[in-house]
Amino acid sequence: MNTHLRLPVVAGIGLRAPHIAQVLAERPPVAWFEVHSENYYADGGPALAALDRIRADYPLSLHGVGMSLGSTDPLDATHLSKLERLVARVEPAAVSEHLCWSGIGGRHLNDLLPLPYTEEALDHVCSRVTQVQDALRRELLVENVSSYLAFADATIPEWEFVAAVATRTGCKLLCDVNNIYVNAVNHGFDADAYLAALPGAAIAEVHLAGFDASGPCLVDTHGAPVAPDVWALYARAIARFGPRPTLIEWDTDIPAFAVLEREAATAQSIMETRDAIAA
Ligand SMILES: [Fe+2]
Repeated sequence: MNTHLRLPVVAGIGLRAPHIAQVLAERPPVAWFEVHSENYYADGGPALAALDRIRADYPLSLHGVGMSLGSTDPLDATHLSKLERLVARVEPAAVSEHLCWSGIGGRHLNDLLPLPYTEEALDHVCSRVTQVQDALRRELLVENVSSYLAFADATIPEWEFVAAVATRTGCKLLCDVNNIYVNAVNHGFDADAYLAALPGAAIAEVHLAGFDASGPCLVDTHGAPVAPDVWALYARAIARFGPRPTLIEWDTDIPAFAVLEREAATAQSIMETRDAIAA
């Protein structure tokens, strides 16, 4: 196994099932891959075997969608132990989860729901991030989510809440620039002010994806190319924070792998342009 225990500061690609055989056969020159952790929680089988082979050649990020970090249900010990086991197996360069909740009272919802941005919720989710970091004995990357509603009782702007989670727990941030853009449009705030409020040193990864704009609000579908306005916001984020490991996510209407490679190349060129300007 290669020894990539940190993500390279270049663009990578979210690896989904339709492309795994192609990646195994062709070994494309992709800098790193990210997979959804829960897809590899089985005790064995072909998916895990394929992941072992991919990990032998590429740095890997494990991205969770099912921890329900913000829920008031107890953390799911079985879920956490499966993640611990997967982390021990593949030695990922990063482990991330969402700043959200997705279940209550033992019932699970197939969505990443926003938290009420209150001091009480902040205390609660920080204790949960700490529990997960203690169990994994490593830093967790926590990702800001897209949302279509806000809580009337919220007292803290989303960007201050996200920043406080990192500051209080020592976790890193997975800054999803598309999610910031989607929320800025849906809730009517300034995306650049959001970026300015984040602790840059904590941002260990960036996500980019496409949204759907056909309805009354933007919907974070991960089913389209990165939008021009999101590329522009990403360029301003990179100008502000410096290059960061950047991942192209595409989860519905998944295109040919070459399309993802082109999106990653665009992100890479934006980072290199920033480096050239800085030099
Ligand atoms: Fe994301």
